[in-house]
Amino acid sequence: MSHEHPKNKTCSAAVKSTAADAGLPENLQRLDRLANLGLVSASVAHEVKNGLVAISTFVDVLLEKGEDKEMAEVVRRELKRIDLLVTQMLRFASPKPGKLTSVHVHQVLDHSLRLLEHQMSERMIALKREYRAIPDTVRADDSQLQQTFMNLLLNGFEAIGSNGELSIITENILETNGSRWLKIHIGDTGVGIVPENLGRVFDTFFTTKKNGTGLGLAICRRVVQEHGGNIEVQSEVRRGSTFTICLPAE
Ligand SMILES: Nc1ncnc2c1ncn2[C@@H]1O[C@H](COP(=O)(O)OP(=O)(O)OP(=O)(O)O)[C@@H](O)[C@H]1O
Ligand SMILES: [Mg+2]
Repeated sequence: MSHEHPKNKTCSAAVKSTAADAGLPENLQRLDRLANLGLVSASVAHEVKNGLVAISTFVDVLLEKGEDKEMAEVVRRELKRIDLLVTQMLRFASPKPGKLTSVHVHQVLDHSLRLLEHQMSERMIALKREYRAIPDTVRADDSQLQQTFMNLLLNGFEAIGSNGELSIITENILETNGSRWLKIHIGDTGVGIVPENLGRVFDTFFTTKKNGTGLGLAICRRVVQEHGGNIEVQSEVRRGSTFTICLPAE
């Protein structure tokens, strides 16, 4: 599949359709679920994290003693997974909009790529980078943006497995109504998404992975929307997927 994005579809049109969707009962239910999640998860996460510290210490002691090492390793691995899940939940529920500064999107992309460099070469994934957006600044919380890019890149890796290509394209969009946007396309040549799942990938807890939390894309969507933008996906089974983020230009 081509990683080029059809340019006739404007960002504000997509934003409008998101707002219109919010009137649908199903989406209202989702908002309700999210609100509940926010209320409950912060307190639960706090307690779970405290418990994890105690259990981890105990497992470490067991590991040192060398009794049933295999079992202790399994427990340790699972603990790590729970810890990650809780951390993601906390972030997801955290109501703070973040600290907005003038952010160079290309710098944040490059930083995210550097952190994943090792994984990329291990998986023999080639990178195609086309930074066409000049200027590349948006008003954003850079750590939230980085989290969003990392989630998308990691999903891309997982979809590819090994041997494939990841593409990152940025561009400036000027709409006829004068609004300016920065678009970021993150594409992979991975397994793709079956049509019946396309509408669900951004849902909280939707996952097709054995060890997935299903929070990655939900967090991405939330972050992007909090920045006044939107995110969408195009995909073809066995060809690959492209996620497009649209952010208001600074
Ligand atoms: N690039 C992609 N290619 C194919 N499928 C994808 C891609 N990105 C996401 N998906 C699908 O969307 C689902 C939800 O993704 P999301 O990132 O929210 O959760 P996850 O990756 O399953 O779990 P986690 O992010 O916690 O590891 C995935 O399980 C997968 O089925
Ligand atoms: Mg993910």
